[in-house]
Amino acid sequence: MAAEAKPQILSHVNNLNYFSILLLLLYFNVASGAGGTWRLLLNDVGISAMHSQLLINDRVIMYDRSNFGPSKISLPSGACRVSPNDVVSKRDCTAHSIEYDVAFNSIRPLTIESNTWCSSGGVTPEGALLQTGGDKEGERKARMFYPCDDESCDWTEVDNALYVRRWYATNHVLPDGRQIIIGGRNQFNFEFFPKTKAPSLYKLPFLSETYDAGQENNLYPFVFLNSDGNLFIYANNKAILLDYNKNTVVKTYPKIPGGDPRSYPSTGSAVLLPIKNLEAEVVEMEVLVCGGAPKGSYLLALYKNTFVKALDTCARIKINDDKPQWVLEKMPRSRVMGDMILLPNGHVLLINGGSSGSAGWELGREPVLNPDLYHPDKPVGSRFQVQNPSTIPRMYHSTAGLLRDGRVLVGGSNPHQFYNFTDVLFPTELRLEAFSPSYLESQYWSIRPRIISLLSHSTVNYGGILRLRFMVFGIGGVRSPVKVTMVFPSFTSHSFSMSQRLLVLDHVELVRIGVWTYEVRVKAPKSKNLAPPGYYMAFVVNQDIPSEGIWLRLQ
Ligand SMILES: *[C@@H]1O[C@H](CO)[C@@H](O)[C@H](O)[C@H]1NC(C)=O
Repeated sequence: MAAEAKPQILSHVNNLNYFSILLLLLYFNVASGAGGTWRLLLNDVGISAMHSQLLINDRVIMYDRSNFGPSKISLPSGACRVSPNDVVSKRDCTAHSIEYDVAFNSIRPLTIESNTWCSSGGVTPEGALLQTGGDKEGERKARMFYPCDDESCDWTEVDNALYVRRWYATNHVLPDGRQIIIGGRNQFNFEFFPKTKAPSLYKLPFLSETYDAGQENNLYPFVFLNSDGNLFIYANNKAILLDYNKNTVVKTYPKIPGGDPRSYPSTGSAVLLPIKNLEAEVVEMEVLVCGGAPKGSYLLALYKNTFVKALDTCARIKINDDKPQWVLEKMPRSRVMGDMILLPNGHVLLINGGSSGSAGWELGREPVLNPDLYHPDKPVGSRFQVQNPSTIPRMYHSTAGLLRDGRVLVGGSNPHQFYNFTDVLFPTELRLEAFSPSYLESQYWSIRPRIISLLSHSTVNYGGILRLRFMVFGIGGVRSPVKVTMVFPSFTSHSFSMSQRLLVLDHVELVRIGVWTYEVRVKAPKSKNLAPPGYYMAFVVNQDIPSEGIWLRLQ
């Protein structure tokens, strides 16, 4: 009898174990949910996502550099290219650009002929990616990528598209749909794509004034289109407002308190905070700059093997104030080479980077694995919320970007001159991850809006009324004001998302039209200065929980 009873006791113990494991799993699920969750999407995308751009077919174009040896993915249909400036081999049969399909979680290789290293870009009003510049034979080229629904599209390259070499420059999409290309190594000027007739190249003394000898600290400037049509340009530790049509500086902003640099290689990041009250006479525009590295960090890392603690502050400024002043805020930690991403509900995600050293090969240390969430509308001192960590360091040459489903796609990291996968600190990173902010958790199921009207890629006119029907399945789960936000898909490289902006549309009314169905009516922006023409992701936001977005074309 006793012998027979034993297995029963054992199986009972086993059941208990399974039960407690289940409980533990549940516990960890809930615990990790509070600060967002990470998921590994693909283990090897073949290249390191140094530059990335989401397009209107929900595919993300990524590329790195095309002259530093073979990647881990072959060119389409067995092609090879001659690459005279390649430092590893002059014949290269691998791809240095890919297309990532969000829905299928799959990739395909693309063909780039010339070097795109440390370049810039943005999307055109038609939804194509315009990429500009790079190094060596690629430094004056532009490359276009027109999205397609199958696998037929690839890059086309335009020779001599730029007046001068553009390496480490910043682009911004303009109200007329053109792009401005500002600065870059040894370029204290700007130009346009497509090229304008003479004068074609415009001097920008601000860029020579912000140049630190031997360490630059003014590359990849942070550029934002202001509501008055001028451009806010931040480099090193200060900023101007530029009328690019007349090439005059209309405003000079004070230095950030402390005076430390926050642009490349002292790489911090910056966003334009959500733009609201769009009908106001002067729309309030606020810029938030976070992180960076104290002056001299780059040189100390390069020559002395000393990795200085990064900056642990953000600075925020209302750029249309009569006497604009920077207000400093402390972050939960030091961060250099971090990315700043506007989330659909208007919160800002700080993600990626390290906490000491600087940008540049082998110069960053202490990866920051935790993102931090910033709530712009809370009082100073309670704006930051620490998020759950990844396990993958994302150092120099990593990227992050918002997807239409509300996740943040994270890729890249290669602080080396080559693809180096072993025997180095922070090996070249080919893994792609997604960070899901806590608003995607299933516990918000009953208040999450689901957009049911308007087909994706519908057109909205400037100043028009936008009617969005949505469902919320929890009875009484809709609490006014329901917001509608629009996010421009940004081009990301070197910790800066170019042309990134989010608009909170002015409310007209919210109507309940069924048990679970509502219609929200909002006004599309009136001005191209507030929102340049093109495709935006539109979201309905109920109590800070966003719907999945839809693509809308503003024209
Ligand atoms: C990095 O890769 C290059 C090119 O393949 C190689 O020559 C170099 O030895 C590698 N460096 C290390 C530290 O492995």
